[in-house]
Amino acid sequence: MSVRKPDLSVNLGFLKLRNPVLVASGTFGYGLEFAPFIDLDRLGGIVVKGLYFHPRPGNPPPRLAESPSGLINSIGLQGIGVKAFCEKILPQFEKTRAPLIVNVCGETDDEYAAVIDFLNKQERIAAFELNISCPNVKKNGLCPALSAEATFSLVRLARRTSIRPIVTKLSPNVTNIVEIAKAAEEAGSDAVSLVNTFLALAVDVETRRPRLANVFGGLSGPAIKPLALRMVYQVASAVKIPVIGMGGIMSGRDALEFLIVGARAVEVGTANLINPDATIRIIQEIEDYCREKKIMKVEDIVGTLKID
Ligand SMILES: Cc1cc2nc3c(=O)[nH]c(=O)nc-3n(C[C@H](O)[C@H](O)[C@H](O)COP(=O)(O)O)c2cc1C
Repeated sequence: MSVRKPDLSVNLGFLKLRNPVLVASGTFGYGLEFAPFIDLDRLGGIVVKGLYFHPRPGNPPPRLAESPSGLINSIGLQGIGVKAFCEKILPQFEKTRAPLIVNVCGETDDEYAAVIDFLNKQERIAAFELNISCPNVKKNGLCPALSAEATFSLVRLARRTSIRPIVTKLSPNVTNIVEIAKAAEEAGSDAVSLVNTFLALAVDVETRRPRLANVFGGLSGPAIKPLALRMVYQVASAVKIPVIGMGGIMSGRDALEFLIVGARAVEVGTANLINPDATIRIIQEIEDYCREKKIMKVEDIVGTLKID
């Protein structure tokens, strides 16, 4: 007996995805680097590496340190800048259908707005993901993600500047992530995504030096999944806008955990660095689960955590 194929599409309101699996910013280059390994059109969406207005070299090496079940990075948001992105990268996406989301960075609120303004007219861009974890040069290096007020004013500016949907990407390095998510929602964000990496430190006991040239880095990978899940659950329970969850997703079941606690879609990061086709396997495993449980629409799983 043939079983009907489960419907994996999810609706973010401003954007319909063919399945809930996107790739997370910074772990998938500008997308095209992965084209030799996977069919990009099978992805729910592609979030490209963070873009500042001008090109940036990033931090000096070493920039990566492995830890048990995790990866600590201090790439320092290396990037090619908006001009090269429009000239060299975007034209290559003409034949790809997967929605492109640009991760927007800035050293000041004005720079975020300038990046959005420059990219606004590019029809190939489906939405902007605001990386509010960038250090602000005018505010003692503090990033907007750490304060509800700073988040509110940055998101409001981005919302007013952008003609495309805004997804605000939250940092887990805060005491009360719900407060920050609500500030983003109030300022007009169309969705929130979480979490970015956890501030971390690794030490080489032979040299007694930090293992990263930048001293601190951001922890990602399976080690952070339970922390990320808790935060996604808290945020999804508190806001009305769609939530995109991420943090340590390596398998279809990991992704399903995020959907069950309330995420409408997920982003897969570090897993791409281990297996370039990790996302394709994850999509297949979600489909297999739906078939096995006779779930006809993956959206029916969203926010179904049972708590007595
Ligand atoms: C090497 C590397 C580079 C990253 N670069 C960015 C970036 O440019 N912008 C951003 O918002 N997040 C960036 N992140 C964070 C990821 O998008 C993601 O939020 C985080 O890694 C958690 O997901 P994961 O555990 O699946 O990797 C980066 C992560 C890694 C590992």
